[in-house]
Amino acid sequence: MRTQNIQPVTNPDQIRALIAHEKSVGAYRPIGWSSYAAPLKPNAISNESLVLHCTKCNNNTSGIYEVADVIRRCPACRSLLMYCPACKSCASATEKFSVISCDRCSADFVTNTTVEYLASRDRASREIVLSGIRAIGELHLGNLFGAVQQFVEYEHGDNFCMYFIADWHTLTTLRDPRKVALNSLAIATDYLAAGLNPERSVIYSQSSVPEIAELALYLSMVQPKLQLEHLPTVKDLAKDKHSTMYMGHLHYPLLMAADILGPKATLVPVGYDQAPNVELAMSLADKFNRQFGTTFVTPKMSLNKVVPGLAGGKMGKSNEDSSVLLSDTLDQISEKYLRYGITDKRRSTRSAPGNPSQCVSVYPMYEALLEKRPEEIKIVETECREGSRGCRECKLQLSREIDALLQPFRERRAELSEKQKYVEEVLHYGGLKAREIIQHTLWEVRERLGILSH
Ligand code: TRP
Repeated sequence: MRTQNIQPVTNPDQIRALIAHEKSVGAYRPIGWSSYAAPLKPNAISNESLVLHCTKCNNNTSGIYEVADVIRRCPACRSLLMYCPACKSCASATEKFSVISCDRCSADFVTNTTVEYLASRDRASREIVLSGIRAIGELHLGNLFGAVQQFVEYEHGDNFCMYFIADWHTLTTLRDPRKVALNSLAIATDYLAAGLNPERSVIYSQSSVPEIAELALYLSMVQPKLQLEHLPTVKDLAKDKHSTMYMGHLHYPLLMAADILGPKATLVPVGYDQAPNVELAMSLADKFNRQFGTTFVTPKMSLNKVVPGLAGGKMGKSNEDSSVLLSDTLDQISEKYLRYGITDKRRSTRSAPGNPSQCVSVYPMYEALLEKRPEEIKIVETECREGSRGCRECKLQLSREIDALLQPFRERRAELSEKQKYVEEVLHYGGLKAREIIQHTLWEVRERLGILSH
C-alpha cells in the first residue's frame, strides 16, 4: 500500500496543502468504532506545541491530526497515520483485511470501510451467506466438494460471506483442548487452501464473538425445551440412549440459531442433516420478531451437495473408513476404494454387464465429482453397462480423478501450513470484523428485551 521513493515533505504549508488535497479527494478514512470507541476530543491533539512523529519514519507529523478520529498518511513515508484512542497518541498504522492496527500499541480498529460496507448491504440484490464447520476432525472430500467449494462460489457472486469455525459446537464431542485448538486452525487453513479470500469473506472462530453466546441465552428464553428434546439433531448428538444428554447438546441448536441470526444472514448453506437446526433458527427469528418487534432476518437455507461415502450414505467425519481425507495420498485413496467402495452387488464377473444405478458408492461419486463433465460420466456409465469396465479399474480410475482434483488444494495447503502465523492473523482480524457486525444486532436485541446495561 505504501508508495516507494516519496520525497519527505517537511514544510508545514506543504503538509497542510497535502492534507487539504487528501480531504478533497476523500483519501482519508475515519476509524470505525471498536471496543475503545470512547469519543475523542479533537483539542487534545490540535495543540500546536505537541511534537508528534510517525512511528515508521520518524518524520515530524505535528499539526496533521487536527481532527482526532481521522486517519491520514504520513507525508514522508505515506504510511497510515492515526490518533490511537487506545494509547492516546499519534502513530503510524498498519492495515490488514480492513482492520487498522496502531503501530505503537497494537490496538486494532475495524475501519469504516468495513462498517460502511456492512451498513450499505443491499439486501435485495446480495445475500449475506453464512456457514460454519465444527472442528471435530480433519476435513474430508465431502466437506470440500459438498460445502467449502460452494462457499468459494458464493464469494465470487455479489454476496457478503461469513464463514466460521464452530469451535464452541466442537466441545459437545471433543474434550481434548489440544485437538480443539489444532483442528480449528487446520480448518481455517483448509478454508484458505480451498480458495476462500480473507479480503472478501469474513473468516473467524465462533469463540471470537462472545455476543453469539449472549444471543443464544436470549433465544433460550423464547424456546420451549420439549421441542429441542425432540429435534433429530439433538438426538443424534447424544446417540447412545444410555449416554448422558448434556445441556450442551440441548443448547446446540440455540447456539447455531445465534450464529445465524447474529449477523442477520440471509442464506445458510448446510448439509441436510443440519436442516432441522436451520429451520429452528428460522422459526426463532419469526417468533422473536412477532413478540418483540422486527429484529432478525429470517434466513433461507441452501442444502449442500451430498458427496457419497465409500460405504454408501453421506461421507461423514464420524466414519473414517467411509471418507476420503483431504490429506490422503493417491495410494491411500485407491486402497480405501478397493477395500470399502461398494459397487453393483449383483454383478457377478468383471465382464458381466453392471448397473450404475445399483452401484452404491463408486458411480455416484463420479456423478458428484464430474458434475460439470457429463460426457465423462456417460462413458463410465456405458462401459459399465457393456461390461467393458471392471469395478476394480473403475475404482482405481475414480481414485486418480479424486487425486487430480485434490492436487491444487494440497499444494496450497502445504504452502499455508508453512504460514500458520498468517492463518492466525486471518482469524484474528476476521474475528474483529465479525464481532463488529454481530455487536450491532445485540444492541438491538438488548433494547428490545429491556436489557439496558447501564
Ligand atoms: N452444526 C453445524 C455442523 O455440524 C455447524 C454449524 C454451527 C453451522 N453453526 C452453524 C452451520 C451455523 C451453519 C450455520 O455441520
